Order: sequence, then structure tokens, then C-alpha cells
Amino acid sequence: MSGSMRHPKKIAILGVGKIGGTLVSGLLKNKTFHPNQIIGSTRSTDHNKEVGKRFGIKTFSNNAEMVRHADVVILAIKPQSIRGVLEEIKDEVTPHHLLITLAAATSTGLVEEQLDGEIPVIRAMPNTACLINEGMTVLCPGQYAGKQHLEIAREIFSSVGRVEILHQEELMDAVTALSGSGPAYAYIIIESLAEGGVKVGLPRELATTLAAQSILGGAKMVLETGEHPAKLKDSVTTPAGVTMDGIMELEAGGIRVTLIKAVAKATEKSKEISH
Ligand SMILES: NC(=O)c1ccc[n+]([C@@H]2O[C@H](COP(=O)([O-])OP(=O)(O)OC[C@H]3O[C@@H](n4cnc5c(N)ncnc54)[C@H](OP(=O)(O)O)[C@@H]3O)[C@@H](O)[C@H]2O)c1
Repeated sequence: MSGSMRHPKKIAILGVGKIGGTLVSGLLKNKTFHPNQIIGSTRSTDHNKEVGKRFGIKTFSNNAEMVRHADVVILAIKPQSIRGVLEEIKDEVTPHHLLITLAAATSTGLVEEQLDGEIPVIRAMPNTACLINEGMTVLCPGQYAGKQHLEIAREIFSSVGRVEILHQEELMDAVTALSGSGPAYAYIIIESLAEGGVKVGLPRELATTLAAQSILGGAKMVLETGEHPAKLKDSVTTPAGVTMDGIMELEAGGIRVTLIKAVAKATEKSKEISH
């Protein structure tokens, strides 16, 4: 039965904080779900009320009751709260539900273990750019989640950006280190390019816009043309031109190896804290 799930009737978001709230707003904005198909909870009663008002959705103070009302349950709580919340809801979760966990460094196995029966679980790693519908979410199914569950999760996260599916959960630490942390790396690159602009006389605000739009344009060129980044780089590098001098400085500063090592180190850290 769990493998034959259709479009969900109701989604329960346990933890309508930063990422949970972003999801609610994306799902409503894109009309993927009607406000009466989404229910949410937070820890504090005041926040619960505020969330209800902000999104026009029904909120609950009892997570188990929410699960009873929903067919898809999204755990958007901090990793340290996962065990406690699973304990609260375990008696209500059935194989007809789909559980999607967003908690970083928390395996589908850990979630499955806390529950009784063959519960379809999907681990999702979104990033902060979901806030502006440019998110990158990677989905990884647990042992009981099938194709249709993945399609439902894809539909949900497509409302806030791009979605990829990965079947090797051991690579989720690498995903966390690359696309989860990626926006932070991009901010540093943009900030540094802008500083370069300021150094050579551009007003800071203009320099920041030029840097950010250039990174956005470069990223879109890679995604939309499907060309290898090296080929695109070659196409802006005129022989004996300006860009080549800039590239030589980047190479002398070890930009490539620095970025490679950043992802490798962050992956190690994610592995270290995973359970
Ligand atoms: N933010 C991101 O960009 C991002 C990206 C990828 C993955 N994640 C993952 O998403 C999860 C949430 O992160 P976040 O940044 O959104 O954190 P957050 O803003 O702190 O949100 C967590 C929410 O959970 C609520 N909460 C805590 N205990 C609860 C309980 N027992 N029942 C119901 N709700 C409860 C909190 O309520 P109160 O507001 O009342 O305290 C809060 O609204 C984390 O596991 C994180 O690893 C986040």
C-alpha cells in the first residue's frame, strides 16, 4: 500500500521554523497545496499562533495529533530534537504515511529504527536559497520509500527550487558539504569580488551588485547551457586579454585547491557528527 501513494491530501510540517516556514510559503505561493492542506507546529505556543496567522494554516500543539490528520509528515526540527519528536509520534505513524526528514547528519536508518513497521522515510537536504525559490534539495530514500514517495517529495521541494535524487546515503555528507553549505561559500566569493571592485574605485553597493549578478549569470550559464564550466571560462578568456590576468591571480592564490579542500573538510565534519 505504501508504494501506491497518490498526491498527498495533507502535509504536516513539524517545526515551522526557518526551513519549515520557507517550505510552507513556497508550497502556498506555487499553489502546490491549498492552505487547508497544510498543518504545522512549533515548540512555543506564541510562535504557533504567529505561524498560523502568517500563513493562514492550522497549527497544532500536539505533534501526534498532526500525524493523525496528515499523509505526509515533514520533520523540520533540529537534529537534537529528532528522537524526542519521533517518540511523540511513533504510535500514529503507519506505512501509509510518508516521513520526510530534513535534519542534517541524521540517517534514514536512525529514523526508521525509532518507528514501528516498514515506514517510508526520505531524507532531504535543502539549502537556504529555498527562501527565494532557488534552493537545491537532494532527496535520499530510506529502505521502505519507493518511486512514488520520491515523486511526492520531489513535487514538494520543487516548489522552492531544484531537486536531485541520490540513492547512496553515504554521499549525503558530501551533499551537505557542497550544496548545504554552498551558499556560504558563494557569499564569501561575492564579498571578496566586491572588495576587489572597491579596491579599484567602484562604490561598494555597485561592486556588490556586479559581483553577485556575475556569479548568478555564471551559475545560470552552467545550468542552462549544460556546457562544461571550463569551456564557458575559455569562451570569456580572450588571448592576451583582461580576464586571463585575473585568472592568473586566482590560480596563484590557489583558488581551485582551496575550494576543493573546503568541500572535503566540510564533508569530513559532517561524517564526524552524523548518526
Ligand atoms: N535552515 C536551513 O537552510 C536548513 C537547510 C538544510 C537542513 N536544515 C535542517 O532543517 C532543520 C530545521 O532547521 P531550521 O534552520 O529551520 O531551524 P529553526 O529555524 O530553529 O526551526 C526549528 C523549528 O522547530 C520547532 N520545534 C522545536 N521543537 C519542536 C517540537 N518538539 N515540536 C514541534 N516543533 C518544534 C521550533 O519551534 P520554536 O520556533 O517555537 O522554537 C522551530 O520553529 C534542522 O534539522 C536542519 O538541520 C535546515
